[in-house]
Amino acid sequence: MSKKRTASFLLALMCTLSLASCAGDTQPTAPASVTAAAETSETAEVTAAEETSETTAPEETEQPEETTKKKKEKKNKHELKIETDLQSLSEYFDGDFKVGTALTPNDLLSRNVVALTEKHFGDSLTCGNEMKPDYVLDRAGTLSYFAETGDDENPQVNFNQAKPILDYANEHKVPMRIHTLVWHSQTPTWFFKEGYEMDGEWVSKEKMIKRMENYIKNYFATLTELYPDIEFYACDVVNEAWMENGQPRKPGCREENGGEASPWVQVFGDNSFIEYAFTFARQYAPEGCKLYYNDYNEYMDVKMGTIYVMAEELKEKGVIDGIGMQAHLDVRSGTDSFPSVMMFNRALDTYSELGLDIQVTELDATIPAGSEEKFFDAQAEYFKGIISAIYEHRENVSALIFWGVTDDRSWRRDQQPLLFKKDFTAKPAFYSILEIKDEASDTSETEADTAETSEDSAEETPEETTEEASGETEE
Ligand code: GLA
Repeated sequence: MSKKRTASFLLALMCTLSLASCAGDTQPTAPASVTAAAETSETAEVTAAEETSETTAPEETEQPEETTKKKKEKKNKHELKIETDLQSLSEYFDGDFKVGTALTPNDLLSRNVVALTEKHFGDSLTCGNEMKPDYVLDRAGTLSYFAETGDDENPQVNFNQAKPILDYANEHKVPMRIHTLVWHSQTPTWFFKEGYEMDGEWVSKEKMIKRMENYIKNYFATLTELYPDIEFYACDVVNEAWMENGQPRKPGCREENGGEASPWVQVFGDNSFIEYAFTFARQYAPEGCKLYYNDYNEYMDVKMGTIYVMAEELKEKGVIDGIGMQAHLDVRSGTDSFPSVMMFNRALDTYSELGLDIQVTELDATIPAGSEEKFFDAQAEYFKGIISAIYEHRENVSALIFWGVTDDRSWRRDQQPLLFKKDFTAKPAFYSILEIKDEASDTSETEADTAETSEDSAEETPEETTEEASGETEE
């Protein structure tokens, strides 16, 4: 983007943001779980202000040298701080899978974050929060519709809060992932209640099916009407419906039963809402928009098995296209990373067997809080291992999405889980990823050599060969 375009874009964006914040009572209240994101946004605003701030006009008595100095300072402030000579990550994986990121509207106020996004993550954008049910479901609009028509099964939606990101994607022709339609979290409880009142009774399952259908229908219709030119290529239809023990969540709402409870389970009695959601999404999603089930701890055995069985059933019914692996990972000190690269690789193997697409939807990998740069190399090794495994599965993986750009804006920012530092420079993890392809081809050459050698030396003792082979697969 040219500097002029960036400036006019920022101006338009600031106007949009201030209009959005004035629209107070028509907007859903941000849930507690987005506090981290909200705090991040504050940081982002400060940074953006610093990045865009103008130096004050020189005073009349000022000496010419001082004016020149100030002009220089002003110029420096407007210069991009990103490393422009780096290899682009999305170009590096071009032809293998899309590389993208999640952004919030405040990220767009930072020219440097925007520039990093364009350079490295230009294949795909996800809204960090603004396309979740809490942001899209419009209670005021829903109540008016109910009052006017007497129909309490047709929840209304708007995309006011996602507008800056949607406008950006539209202007820059960036394909988008829709995140997310049906989730226990960041979804207003009134949506499930009689009269859309917080203290109303829970509605019946039949009524909720109708509300769900109309919500999904309105969601896609409004979005595609507003942005007919954006390529919505993927949608997380259902997010985080299964517990680690392979069971549905406990019934209830956040206010009474805590953030882990699910109002969907409360109304449906079980996880049967998942199939309804996929069926409606298939019916109303725009053409080309693939449908995903998305979850965290997706590499843990029992949960993985449950997701697998659910996905097989949905696949048989023709309503699912893929699995979204959130991939919120922990490097820790490097020797005790969780999951291990091997475990993550096994999950990729397992989901590949489904014959569905895989997208890594929210990748980040934390190091211990307060450890400064001590574990940057361990983090680099880990990212390299995880992304090598993804690369090895590239036939089945169509997107690799990071959950943010710079550490200081991450929801886990104390643990520095991303590829770029606060000052917009690349961390060792970034460089380690650029070694993957060379090493992958080295490995396949070595494998080919080994195959030839073992054919030549078929007489060797089998035990020796097996021991060496199993040693190589250890982490
Ligand atoms: C989950 C959700 C994301 C986001 C992260 C935390 O992974 O799917 O939308 O809320 O948690 O930021």
